[in-house]
Amino acid sequence: MRDALERLNELVDESDPDVDIPNIVHAFQTAERIRKDYPEDDWFQLTGLIHDAGKVMAFYGEPQWCVVGDTFVVGCNWSDNIVYRDTSFRNNVDGKNPKYK
Ligand SMILES: [Fe+2]
Repeated sequence: MRDALERLNELVDESDPDVDIPNIVHAFQTAERIRKDYPEDDWFQLTGLIHDAGKVMAFYGEPQWCVVGDTFVVGCNWSDNIVYRDTSFRNNVDGKNPKYK
């Protein structure tokens, strides 16, 4: 897991390009904040630490729209509140499907 977290430092997240801290710092900040608020819930702290680990799939051929950024409900139109909605999802074929509007 450590390798995955360190590897994420190399990833520039298309959906959040203005973040200037390494991803591993974000992972530890998240886990530490959860530990402060929920000191008894070690499972929750671990979840905070690894919550972005799936982004590592971007290094193995997965397009960024399916591994980074905001989540969305499959089959529905994407919310206007999604940051970089028009650019980070541009290669998602669902955006061209009229059934998903
Ligand atoms: Fe995150």
